[in-house]
Amino acid sequence: MPGSSSFLIVANRLPVDRVGEDMWRRSPGGLVTAIAPVLQRREGAWIGWHGAPDERLDPFEHDGMHLIPVPLSAQEVELYYEGFSNATLWPLYHDVVATPVYSRALWDAYRLVNERFAHAAAEAAAPDAVVWVQDYQLQLVPAMLRKLRPDVRIGFFLHIPFPPGELFQQLPWRRELLEGLLGADLVGFQRPGGASNFIRLCRKTLGLQYQKHEIYVEDRVVRAEAFPISVDFGELDVLVREPHIVARAQEIRRDLGNPEHVLLGVDRLDYTKGIGQRLKAFGELLADGSIKPGEAAFVQIATPSRERVEEYIRLRDSIELQVGRINGEQGELGQQPVQYLHQSYGRDELAALYLAADVMVVTPLRDGMNLVAKEYISCRHDLRGALVLSEFAGAAEELKQAFMVNPYDIDGLKRTMLSAMRATPHDLSRRMRSLRRRVATYDVDRWAQDFLAALES
Ligand code: ADP
Ligand code: F6P
Repeated sequence: MPGSSSFLIVANRLPVDRVGEDMWRRSPGGLVTAIAPVLQRREGAWIGWHGAPDERLDPFEHDGMHLIPVPLSAQEVELYYEGFSNATLWPLYHDVVATPVYSRALWDAYRLVNERFAHAAAEAAAPDAVVWVQDYQLQLVPAMLRKLRPDVRIGFFLHIPFPPGELFQQLPWRRELLEGLLGADLVGFQRPGGASNFIRLCRKTLGLQYQKHEIYVEDRVVRAEAFPISVDFGELDVLVREPHIVARAQEIRRDLGNPEHVLLGVDRLDYTKGIGQRLKAFGELLADGSIKPGEAAFVQIATPSRERVEEYIRLRDSIELQVGRINGEQGELGQQPVQYLHQSYGRDELAALYLAADVMVVTPLRDGMNLVAKEYISCRHDLRGALVLSEFAGAAEELKQAFMVNPYDIDGLKRTMLSAMRATPHDLSRRMRSLRRRVATYDVDRWAQDFLAALES
């Protein structure tokens, strides 16, 4: 029997994680940042896992959203979430910056959990509903859902990069994943390159015909196009002007010893984010005397992420060793050049950090979009602040006025970080004005409207 939701979000995670009896914490990552305001402004429901294993929960209301939890056993968390999603697909889709694990047991779990999500969506969707499936953890859901509910309109959006054929073809289950995605009416990507990789793979692997953005699948047409995701510019722009945020930003600078330059990194602790590269560049700038002691402080906020996956355990050890080395070698009593915080923060604290930072350092080795870069821009109505941005972030395609870097080139990174620190106020305001124009125009509402209009047309 059909359900009652005419608009449904289906994502691996709900926007909140259960951390105790009636205690909820905002889930990490860019997907939640982008989708939560979209659902809050529309009638609808969100289907996803609530972050705790071996637990069944009834649907509930939270922060103006109707949430429908999908249970995962501890073993499914290990095989489907930590395994196939984050040890196979995540590295494969991010240029193989870590080696993907190919295992049939992980694949079986991925298929099984995707079935569960498809059934949950089929049960919750009203007749002719719009169902919007999110991200790489659920790529089989569109085709599974279409079988169960041919009446609904299905959109899929991939928040991470879609790799070139040469990499994707490694995957033993490449046909199944492409067929899964083709169950959607519209498949959205962050960049046009992702859409064309997908279209070419459909032709090469499945022998399908296509024209421009349209792929012909039996009697249906599936569209594949880019919709670069964004942030809630207006909300951040208002928040950051509040007196308590301004006061907190000043306090942060004072606590850091009022250095001339505050540099900031904000990321999930993930090996795709290039945290090691930026710290190396900063450490070398101190060591070779380009930055004088006390002249600059680097604040690195790294949200704990996927903490049981091997590559993440290794990454944490290596970053913490690196921070210790820089502070040990370049610091002084009572003054450490790198402040490293392995913690999650609320929106207010992040906004204050963005406002306190002269240079935002965003250096992923590969990233679908990178919302942190757009959040920083949204917070800099004072037209001060410099954004150092990797050319391998999806955001680089839109944010051309940033200080662009290749994060693999440590000398280039050092030069660019120095240029950002030494830029004139005139140069900074010219760049920031143009960056803000772009993010204000293409905010998250515009992204959702564009996607949903294309899906419903
Ligand atoms: P990803 O989706 O890969 O994590 P994004 O940069 O696109 O990367 O999105 C990250 C989101 O998580 C942003 O909205 C950012 O504000 C938030 N975030 C990052 N680090 C923290 C932190 N330490 N505490 C709270 N939120 C964080
Ligand atoms: O945007 C990428 C993404 O992987 C989302 O799909 C995910 O919700 C977020 O980052 C955080 O990762 P995780 O859910 O594995 O903690």
